[in-house]
Amino acid sequence: MEAILEVEHLEKKYGDLIAVNSISFKVNKGEIFGFLGPNGAGKTTTIKMMSGLLKPDKGNVIINGENKLKSIGVCPQNIVVWENLTCHEQLVFMGQMYNIPAAEAKKRSKELLEALGLSDKKDKLAKTLSGGMLRRLNIALALIHSPVIVFLDEPQAGLDPQSRVLVRDYIRSIKHTTTVILSTHDMEEAEKLSDRVCIIDKGNILALGTTEALKKANHSDTPFKSLEDVFINMTGRSLRE
Ligand SMILES: Nc1ncnc2c1ncn2[C@@H]1O[C@H](COP(=O)(O)OP(=O)(O)O)[C@@H](O)[C@H]1O
Ligand SMILES: [Mg+2]
Repeated sequence: MEAILEVEHLEKKYGDLIAVNSISFKVNKGEIFGFLGPNGAGKTTTIKMMSGLLKPDKGNVIINGENKLKSIGVCPQNIVVWENLTCHEQLVFMGQMYNIPAAEAKKRSKELLEALGLSDKKDKLAKTLSGGMLRRLNIALALIHSPVIVFLDEPQAGLDPQSRVLVRDYIRSIKHTTTVILSTHDMEEAEKLSDRVCIIDKGNILALGTTEALKKANHSDTPFKSLEDVFINMTGRSLRE
């Protein structure tokens, strides 16, 4: 297996709070890597450091064997769109920021709008879209330049079941060209989509492996029934942020 992303002893503190505590892992090329944890676990902080939006206090992020961050796309947890541009306009604009020729960006925009169920909203201003549509547009924006790695931070938050299935199918469909790091606390989605999952809590990695392997790794003889059982067993029942 070829690692496309390596994280080595990554660490981030906010004042006295250790948000990410010296974590290390590798993501393989073409993998859907589920990054799971309760609220406040450190998922977004780690994604920001992996994608170059936040400088780590310590540690390294190595992408594709290089130490520079390129060919990556990010779909942030908090939706970021240009309210006063249409869906198509902002996708083309974003594409041009990545130096994609206009004709190609237009073609790619149409493909993405189609794939994410937004074709009929192509010429609508973003500010007129529903929350679920904005979320799908946010995903499209992360993928306009056909990145080799895409970081999706809770991409399914706030989606209705129809949209969730569409986004799930779309994420699966890009897997052969794009490595996906998917942060979520939705165990069902994680189990359906991920080749491997990494469970983090309080900035530490608690488990990493295939869902099947994690379910079997119960201390008693009976395997866990679901990924949710594994998750609750590892992260406990106390309420979070
Ligand atoms: N900018 C910030 N300043 C201070 N604390 C922060 C900041 N961002 C996140 N935190 C804290 O760091 C911890 C990890 O947050 P985050 O990475 O957003 O977790 P997750 O994405 O898993 O919910 C939480 O306790 C959160 O409150
Ligand atoms: Mg988060």
